[in-house]
This record gives sequence, C-alpha cells and structure tokens, in this order.
Amino acid sequence: MPLSHVWPMSAGIGTNGHLFVSGFDVVSLAAEYDTPLYIYDEPTIRTMCKAYKDACTACGATDAIVHYAGKALLNTAIAQLVHSEGLALDVVSGGELALALHAGIPAAQIHMHGNGKTSRELDEALAAGIGAIVVDNFDELKLLIHRTNLRKVPFPIQIRVTPDIAADTHQHIQTGHYASKFGFPLEALNQVGELLRTAPGLRLTAVHAHLGSQIFDPATHTAAVAVLVDQIAYLRNQYGISIEALNIGGGLAVAYTDVQKAPNITSAVGDIWRALTVACTRNGLAPLRLELEPGRSIVARAGIAVYRVVGGKTIADMPRWVHVDGGMADNIRPALYGAKYTAVVANRVNAAAEEVVNVAGRYCESGDVLLHDTALAKPQVGDIIALAVSGAYTLSMASNYNMVPRPTALLVRPGTVQVMRQRETYADLWRHDGAYQG
Ligand SMILES: Cc1ncc(COP(=O)(O)O)c(C=O)c1O
Repeated sequence: MPLSHVWPMSAGIGTNGHLFVSGFDVVSLAAEYDTPLYIYDEPTIRTMCKAYKDACTACGATDAIVHYAGKALLNTAIAQLVHSEGLALDVVSGGELALALHAGIPAAQIHMHGNGKTSRELDEALAAGIGAIVVDNFDELKLLIHRTNLRKVPFPIQIRVTPDIAADTHQHIQTGHYASKFGFPLEALNQVGELLRTAPGLRLTAVHAHLGSQIFDPATHTAAVAVLVDQIAYLRNQYGISIEALNIGGGLAVAYTDVQKAPNITSAVGDIWRALTVACTRNGLAPLRLELEPGRSIVARAGIAVYRVVGGKTIADMPRWVHVDGGMADNIRPALYGAKYTAVVANRVNAAAEEVVNVAGRYCESGDVLLHDTALAKPQVGDIIALAVSGAYTLSMASNYNMVPRPTALLVRPGTVQVMRQRETYADLWRHDGAYQG
C-alpha cells in the first residue's frame, strides 16, 4: 500500500512495515528521541520553496519576492533553510524579528506584520532597518509618522488592506473580509493618502492583503488583485504616491486528508501574476512587482507528529478512546477549529485500518481530541501513531499547558538527522518563575 500525497515527499514504508522519512525509521527515531516528536523532512521544504520560486519564473514574474511567513513554523534552522532557498522572511513580533536576525537573515529581507505591534517592536524594526513594516491601522501609522519625522532616508512601509473578500475557509482563518480585525478597510485609503502627504520619513512601497489561510480556490486571490490594483491606481492619481509592488499575502491550501487536493502552485501563481498584469494595464500603471507570503504550504506537508499510545477506554456505542502522550499543547488546531488529520500506526503501516477510534490528546480539556472517528490499525499501548501534514501552525502555537515540556523537533534529510529544537526539560518549566517572597 503506497503512502498518499499527504505524507512528506520522501516518506515510505520499510520492509519492516514501519513509516520512514528521508530514509529514517520513524519508530526508531521515536525510541531514540522519545515522544511526542515532530519530524520535518528537509527535501519537502526545499521542494516547496523551489515550487514558488520556479512558479514566479515560469509565468514571467521574474522580480517577484517570495516571503516565508514565519508564523507557520519558526526556529533558527528553518529561517536559515528557507533563506538558503532564496526566500525572504515575514515576522509578526519583536521575538520573531530577533530570532530572524539571530539566524543571520539580512534585515533588508525581513517584513514585519501584525495588528498589535507595540511601539517597542516598531522601534526594534526601525532600528534593525528591515525591508518594510506592513502597517495595519491608523494608530500604528501615526506612531510611525511621528517616529520617522526626522529621517533623512524615508523608511519603507506597506499598508495592509482588507479588500472585502471573504475567502472560502474556516472563519477563524479568514482575514480579507470587511469585518476582519486586520488592515485598513478600502474606504480608509483616502485618509491614509492624506496622512502620507505629511510623512516625509515614510515611503509607501506596496499595498498588501492577506485573504486568509487554507484557501483552495486561487480565484479568491485573483479577485483581490483586481480590487487592490484599482486602489494603487487611486493612490497614484489622487495623492501622487507611486507604489512599486502588490503583496497578495499567503494562504494557498494544503491537503490534510487523502480526498483533498492542494492547488497547483505553478498555476495559482501564474493566475495571480496574469491578473496583476491585466489590472495594471487596465489602470495605466507600470507593471507592479508581485510579492507572496506562503507559510503553511511551505512547511505543513514536511512535518509529521509522532505520538505513543499510552492507554485507552472502551465504552458502549462509540469508538474506543485511544490516549496518546501529546495533544492540544503541541497541536491546537483540532481543538481550535476542528482541523482534520490523516494518521497511521507507524509501526504497522501495512496493517488494515479496521477499527474506527477517537484519538484523545493527554491534556485536561474534553476538546483535546486529535482524531475523531478515524480508522486505524487497532492501536494498542506502546504503538506509535503518526499524523501527517503536521508541520504548520502546530509547534509555532505550542504551549506548556499542564506543565508538559514542549517536544523535540527533528529535521531529516537522507543520511542526516538534526535536532532543530530540543525537548524542554522540567527545569525549563520554572526557569522564569520567581519564588514566593513571604
Ligand atoms: C499577513 C500574513 N501573510 C502570510 C500568512 C501565511 O498564510 P499561509 O500560512 O496560509 O500561507 C499569514 C497567515 O496568517 C498572514 O497573516
């Protein structure tokens, strides 16, 4: 039985019936590094980075810039890996910025996002001289105008706009609709234009929109492109602001289950680029540079989450509960918005999936259920369960709920296993505590 397209590109089944990634036996890795364990397949990440770069070249968007959205998964090795593939980097906090600089990412290749950036974080971004701050709202814009007033060289900014397009995805990950907490509504652009007249320290280089995540239909993006280019033309005509780029954010979906099919990156990027070209021509604008910000589609498929079965419970008239040693503190997505995953018993991949079970996380919340009504090969205590497509928005959202140390993350490629992030120790759990001073 071959593995489906949701597993890492280098995944396979060994002659011993175990799941393998990049030539490494997942069951052996679980024994050596303990569970829960996250394993990332480097060839898959590199292939996805190349897919975006090649898609830009193929459609003629030769000066396009692809930013990896670090919120999907960020640590030193990942930042360096995507940088080595020629991607720039998006950060959303002072912490992500500090990590990116620590990892050696050139400041000019970093953008900072966020609807709640603090003045301290904005100062850090200004001091580092990052490529652009993506301004989210008027309070932030006014603060930046004030902070940059005396600059001799204007600081590059982009403005995040909500084009009033509701992507067909879960409402928790929709961001381009009118009611979104993110970005300027279209009707605010007049006031943005007015404010920028009196902002000698800022240079508006791009209009940005991110429509949401896990979007299957690239028509969502092309519709937004048309709206946004009209706004760029308006800012030029009304305020003489000459904008260089359109940043259409990230959001292309990945397949989490065997029946889902991810959009083809080459054709999606090509569609976006053609929509941009058409809209520029229609508005009499010189061609704009395209900027993209994929996160999930770069790292999701590369990652698998590996858990050990520690117990279970059988009750009448419902699937057996199977308890594993991880859950919502390393992957909040099922509890947060009902995300569905594909799983196998990694030490018996070829065995028939003949029992429908519920796989419960270990955390003290009834909502901590990783898999509902899922057919697996009769998981028993000691078995290893691997969840596919666990690379994005899992460890980057991890917590220490119930005082459980966060897991090890490995990066594997043929012949090499690297610890990207060590499992926390118990001492890490109280490292920042102060003792009671009675
Ligand atoms: C501004 C921005 N850009 C890019 C992304 C990445 O989106 P995705 O991971 O769906 O590609 C996000 C995700 O929330 C975002 O907020």
